[in-house]
Amino acid sequence: GSARMLRITTEELAKHNKREDAWMAIRGFVYNVTTYLDYHPGGVPELMRGAGKDATLLFEEVHRWVNFESMLGACLIGKLEQGPPINN
Ligand code: HEM
Repeated sequence: GSARMLRITTEELAKHNKREDAWMAIRGFVYNVTTYLDYHPGGVPELMRGAGKDATLLFEEVHRWVNFESMLGACLIGKLEQGPPINN
């Protein structure tokens, strides 16, 4: 990737929790998964469970072997800025 990555706070991430505007953090990186939602083999509602959140644990629980880095390459928007812990 050539673009400089944005630093995204958990507060900013939380604003993007809608079907038509869905961001998700996995392993420190933030992805805009809005367009990917329709292609998720596990369905829209399952993927939406992680919208607006750090979905790393959810992701690892379900399918830690899935190569999301490659699949969501075009959807990468930034790095998650680690703030104080939030109870999701
Ligand atoms: C399958 C949930 C994020 C890619 C599934 C399935 C579930 C699920 C329940 C199983 C569907 C079935 O077998 O009937 C979730 C949840 C996520 C999440 C809760 C986060 C909140 C992602 C992401 C990607 C992804 C970020 C990739 C960009 C896939 C793929 C499968 C799958 C490729 C098929 C895996 C296989 O059959 O081995 N997901 N998912 N998922 N998901 Fe996700």
